[in-house]
Amino acid sequence: MAKDKSIFTCTECGGTSARWMGKCPSCNAWNTLIEGSSEPAAGKNRFGSVHASLAPTSEVLPLAQIQAADFERHPTGIDELDRVLGGGMVEGGVVLIGGDPGIGKSTLLLQAVDALQRSGMNTLYVTGEESGAQVAMRSRRLGLPDSQVPVLPEIQLEKILHTLQTRQPGIAIIDSIQTVYSDQLTSAPGSVAQVRECAAHLTRTAKSTGITIVLVGHVTKEGALAGPRVLEHMVDTVLYFEGDTHSNFRLIRAIKNRFGAVNEIGVFAMTEKGLKGVSNPSAIFLSQHAEPVPGSCVMVTLEGTRPLLVEIQALVDSGGPSPRRLSVGLDRDRLAMLLAVLHRHAGVACMDQDVFVNAVGGVRISEPAADLAVMLAITSSLRGKALPKGFIAFGEVGLAGEVRPAPRGQDRLKEAAKLGFKVAVVPKANAPKKNDKAFEGLTIYPVERIEEAMQVVRGLD
Ligand code: TYD
Ligand code: MG
Repeated sequence: MAKDKSIFTCTECGGTSARWMGKCPSCNAWNTLIEGSSEPAAGKNRFGSVHASLAPTSEVLPLAQIQAADFERHPTGIDELDRVLGGGMVEGGVVLIGGDPGIGKSTLLLQAVDALQRSGMNTLYVTGEESGAQVAMRSRRLGLPDSQVPVLPEIQLEKILHTLQTRQPGIAIIDSIQTVYSDQLTSAPGSVAQVRECAAHLTRTAKSTGITIVLVGHVTKEGALAGPRVLEHMVDTVLYFEGDTHSNFRLIRAIKNRFGAVNEIGVFAMTEKGLKGVSNPSAIFLSQHAEPVPGSCVMVTLEGTRPLLVEIQALVDSGGPSPRRLSVGLDRDRLAMLLAVLHRHAGVACMDQDVFVNAVGGVRISEPAADLAVMLAITSSLRGKALPKGFIAFGEVGLAGEVRPAPRGQDRLKEAAKLGFKVAVVPKANAPKKNDKAFEGLTIYPVERIEEAMQVVRGLD
């Protein structure tokens, strides 16, 4: 096939453009187009590799006659990791683990693969980023000096595939997919074409041999490395590391899982001896103020199956001619919308003010149930008045000023009551029936509109 030199490929989504542009025409990401085509492998049928995850069947059968196979699962013994995986690694499953450099991907996988090796599974750790000596140093640091995990320092795809075929491990870690390259392709290692083809080959190997393969991918906005987003559709499970590298806590979120729930969260603390699961993470995203401070409101978020208490902080301060709206861990467009609703429906004006909001602890909240807490934190900062001690709020707020229920509101309230919170402002539809023992100690104010919520809060001053 003729090669087209003037094609630009997006490192995020793999979309192409005939000319260079600042913004990718497919996914709208900025500065992600790099020169180079996503050429097909020489002399190969592209469908063979791209659709590697499809079973190699040619017979058409009614669903009822197809044997439904149960997945064979291998728990890693690291509970928080097993939780996001949906119960453990699946035989023949392909997992992509993404995250910023230095967040702990290699650390967690080495811990997991060592645990599996100890449980009697045959494993393989392919390292392309670090030498065998560096991996050995990490294993000493993790307190695993006697680890029997076989390590292969290799970046060439064909050699990796050969080792997989000959050793037939139960699980193989590829750290990282961006360093792997194939001789069959002419494009540079780390380019979209290389990363995609290599991942497709590895996926096909996983499906045909039953080897579980874990691909490590860096999430980089800049630089020439292809982002792992181009691989998301190929793999069975996509996990991303979240969290602030400055705090000790790390979150792993499942954003796609063919074998479990999405949006499930695993919580870890980075210690001197690697990542340790935090089994009761509910209160770690609260900054520990001795007394309540203005601009802070705790919410209960429920992403995945477990409620988490997270503190939302807001700072409203007089701004210049074009005031700034910044948010960390929360959606900025939504913040602009909430400010408009506050003004229109609750008479709280922040037009000439800078507004900053932050979800404490580096957690990212994408659910609209944070709306009410964001608005109460903003109002509290503007008034310079703290919300009462032990106060929580959650609920989605609509453009008409209505407070809409959050999914599984009662589970959220139960968690707050369990942790000793005293006052809750919640959507009316989420309020429990009177005299329910599970909510003892918690005074619940059900509200239907944002004005009502403001009134309740003023009444608590
Ligand atoms: P690493 O797993 O190498 O990150 P990634 O593979 O995602 O790039 O982790 C790197 C960071 O973790 C590094 O800054 C050191 C820290 N760390 C600890 O704090 N404790 C430990 O036991 C280990 C192994 C690493
Ligand atoms: Mg690493």
